Amino acid sequence: MEVVITPTAAGGAALVADAVVALLARRPAAVLGLATGSSPLGVYRELVERCRAGRVSFRAARAFLLDEYVGLPPAAPQAYARVIRRDLTDALDLAPGAVDGPDGAAVDVPGECARYEAALAAAGGVDLQLLGIGTDGHVGFNEPGSSLASRTRLKTLTRRTRTDNARFFGGDPDAVPRHVLTQGLGTLLDARHLVLLASGEAKAAAVAAAVEGPVSASCPASVLQLHPHATVVLDDAAASRLAGADHHRETWAGKPAWQGL
Ligand code: F6R
Repeated sequence: MEVVITPTAAGGAALVADAVVALLARRPAAVLGLATGSSPLGVYRELVERCRAGRVSFRAARAFLLDEYVGLPPAAPQAYARVIRRDLTDALDLAPGAVDGPDGAAVDVPGECARYEAALAAAGGVDLQLLGIGTDGHVGFNEPGSSLASRTRLKTLTRRTRTDNARFFGGDPDAVPRHVLTQGLGTLLDARHLVLLASGEAKAAAVAAAVEGPVSASCPASVLQLHPHATVVLDDAAASRLAGADHHRETWAGKPAWQGL
C-alpha cells in the first residue's frame, strides 16, 4: 500500500486527477469506479476543468458507481445516481449510457445485485476505483462486520454513518435511508487500482486503523492492505494519527515522478 500525504486536500486531488488523466491517455476506454460524498469532490473539480480545457477526454470511457441508497424517491437529489451527474459526469464528454450504478429502486434486489456484478465483469472490471472512508472505517457502504469477500448486496447503514450523512438530508439522521446497495469488499478488490482519499481530522482514526491496524472486517477499509495496487491519499490532518507518517512523506518525496501513483 502506498500512502501519499499532501499538506492540503487540493494537492492530493490534483495528484489523483493526474493518475486518471494518465490512465485515459494510455487506455481511452478505461473503466472508472466512482465514489460519491465529499472526499472525491476535489478530484472531480480537477477532471471537469481539464476536460473543459480539452486536456482529457472521457469519450470512450465507462464508469460504475460504488453504491446507492435504497428507498429514496426517484427524483431525490441525494440519490447517488443524481449526485454523480451533478458533481461530475454531466460535465464530462462521456457517451450516453456510459455510467452505471446499482438501482436502489429495484424490486428484485438480489437480481439487481447480480446484474450489477455481471455488468462490472462484462466491462472487463474497473481500472481505477476511487474510494472515500467513513469515520467507522467503511468503504463503499461496507460497514464494520462486512465480509472481506463480499459482493454487491443490500447493507444496513450504521447509526454513525447515518449521522455523518445527515448533512445531505437537512441535518436529520432519521431522514437518511437505512438501507443501501453497495459493491462488496471482494468486488472492490477486483479493481486494478484502488485510490482512497481522505481529508480532515475526523477521518484520522479510521485512516490509522485501515492503514496500520490488522486486516479485519471490523475496519472494512483495512481490506486495502490485501490489494497489490492500493494508494491512500491523505492531507496532513487525516494522516495525523499514522505512526508511519514521516516514512510515507520521505518515500513520496523520493519517488521518481515517472512512476505516478
Ligand atoms: C460514497 C461511499 C462512502 C463515502 C464515505 C465517506 O459513495 O461509498 O463510502 O466515500 O462515507 O464520505 P465523505 O467523502 O462524504 O466523507
